[in-house]
Amino acid sequence: MTYQTEYKAWKDAPEAYWMKQAEAIDWVSPPSKALFDEGAPLYEWFADAQVNTCWNAVDRHANGARATQAAIIYDSPVTGQKTTITYAELRDRCALMGGALKRQGVEPGDRVIIYMPMVPEALVAMLACARIGAVHSVVFGGFAAHELAVRIDDATPKAIIAGSCGIEPGRTVEYKPLLDDAIEQAAHKPEFCVILQRSHCEATLIPGRDHEWYDFIEGAELVDCLPVSGNHPAYILYTSGTTGAPKGVVRHTAGHLVALNWTMKNVYGVDPGEVFWAASDVGWVVGHSYICYGPLIHGNTTVLFEGKPVGTPDAGTFWRVMSEHKVASFFTAPTAFRAVKQQDPKGDLVKNYDLSHLRYVYLAGERADPDTIHWLQDMLGKPVLDHWWQTETGYAIVCNPVGIEQLPVKVGSPTVPMPGYDVQILGEDGTPLPAGDLGAIAIKLPLPPGTLPTLWNAEERFIKSYLATFPGYYETGDAGYIDEDGYLYIMARTDDVINVAGHRLSTGAIEEALAGHPDVAECAVIGVADELKGQLPLGLLCLNAGVNRPEGEIIAECVKRVREQIGPVAAFKLATVVQRLPKTRSGKILRGIMVKIADDQPYKAPATIDDPAILAEIKEALQSMGYAGKA
Ligand code: COA
Ligand code: AMP
Repeated sequence: MTYQTEYKAWKDAPEAYWMKQAEAIDWVSPPSKALFDEGAPLYEWFADAQVNTCWNAVDRHANGARATQAAIIYDSPVTGQKTTITYAELRDRCALMGGALKRQGVEPGDRVIIYMPMVPEALVAMLACARIGAVHSVVFGGFAAHELAVRIDDATPKAIIAGSCGIEPGRTVEYKPLLDDAIEQAAHKPEFCVILQRSHCEATLIPGRDHEWYDFIEGAELVDCLPVSGNHPAYILYTSGTTGAPKGVVRHTAGHLVALNWTMKNVYGVDPGEVFWAASDVGWVVGHSYICYGPLIHGNTTVLFEGKPVGTPDAGTFWRVMSEHKVASFFTAPTAFRAVKQQDPKGDLVKNYDLSHLRYVYLAGERADPDTIHWLQDMLGKPVLDHWWQTETGYAIVCNPVGIEQLPVKVGSPTVPMPGYDVQILGEDGTPLPAGDLGAIAIKLPLPPGTLPTLWNAEERFIKSYLATFPGYYETGDAGYIDEDGYLYIMARTDDVINVAGHRLSTGAIEEALAGHPDVAECAVIGVADELKGQLPLGLLCLNAGVNRPEGEIIAECVKRVREQIGPVAAFKLATVVQRLPKTRSGKILRGIMVKIADDQPYKAPATIDDPAILAEIKEALQSMGYAGKA
């Protein structure tokens, strides 16, 4: 089998192709057909099937040959804990938590927000929701109360499951005060909360609303998996868009099962029974697809790592975990390896570990810089494979499909489109561009199974954000080109989304937080290049007339505001005061040009610029912060 024949097999008969892949899933009642296109340009896959995600991810393995196989290896250098949970144990834990949620009134379709650190209970909570047909929405622990409140109001959960704290190197982050604050801020109030008390910090519970995890599950019935329809939402995951309001990406049950199962062998090259590790967080899509669902659906062992690439305790942690747990395929963001490389440039720590089980290393979430790829290749002598995807798609759009055929690596390209994805480069007027030309990266509709069918409670926004610019296509928000061999290159975002340490952030959301400062009249946030994190947000602030407080004080207050409203994950520490912002005559702030100035790249002011002299002022302000080349 070659990549070309596999891709052609899909292109010639897409529905037959996906019906074939669907045979790997245990259906309560199989789908009558693959694609449901009656609502085009909105599409659904396997909509009329009956199926359960927890059954496919847990019970079918636990009840069969994998009962005693490790489902989850929890390795937590921040607490010193290491535990293995077998498939049989995981089934019982999910059944008990599912029973407890049901006993407390959670019904199929009810939303449950999960705000937890990287502990096994986070996966149990997700799978327990799936077991009873509840729709989970996991919120990353690095988000502050305001961001959590926004998600509570959008998802309107019946319940929230949280940990008492997360452990960051050098500090404990108490989640419970953030949760209480978020519920206070939100208009919607959950009926109850379940709190996992961790030994590092005991949260104060609110009587009548909060239940301690173990009290909550005590005496509950072990529930069976509830069949749901193929288009039942498995989860909602919020991601950043251009505006401050996050987008609730919906994932339907059946397509999610079929697609993720397909990727484990074809994209990641692992067979059932092998150990797979994605070093990410359950709060991100990588955590959903490749810490929780993908490996479990496929019968792999997943590693749940509560730590950082460096400092827990050192830059050898990744190698230690890979070696100790015999990891076959490993996946993380390039920024994590940049951190390792910074601390151990010669790779002395790699040599301490036996990495003979490791076959492939995968990178995604942000641009993989060639230096990091070359360094890793040299250190490991194994394939280092970049792949490109988004929260919206849930799995790789473009990758090197080692399970089908390992293609030559071209450093700088995530390789080629997967079956299901007809990727095209479009010009501004929507015409497909020839090889080598830079344009908007778009995917011909319908998107394949497992990708987002819509946004939660926001169908119009879904259409406007993704389908309206290029009719018949999904607009990815990325720009790039395809070379003569069909390899894709991702060059930039076409919107104001930035990528900080592999985390996708909205400059609009940061601007909203800054604009709320009483002294700030107007502001713009741009992403400037950073050696470690890829990009860092930088704020340009115009103050109200008559404000004569020290600028440093106002900047410090702005930094604090972003940390309190969005969270530490925004890593917002850079800001400066400017007199004016560059705009077009119609008032649009020219963020793209400011990014180019900051990164000392060539730029051309658009003909529509209101006053080109402002660009020189911006350059001077950025130079005083160490950006925009030398003064
Ligand atoms: N809960 C609470 N706070 C969190 C958090 C969480 N789950 N995750 C991160 N934070 C905090 C950090 O403590 C840090 O706070 P600080 O400003 O007080 O130092 C801040 O958010 C920024 O975190 P991070 O971006 O992780 O930066 P860092 O400097 O702590 O670490 C790296 C840098 C490169 C080691 C780190 O970004 C990393 O491991 N990245 C991997 C990327 C990744 O997993 N991406 C997911 C997509 S694949
Ligand atoms: P997220 O939804 O958080 O996964 O972010 C998706 C975005 O991250 C993409 O639209 C790209 O802008 C960027 N991204 C993800 N993977 C890659 C990659 N391999 N190379 C370049 N950019 C990437």
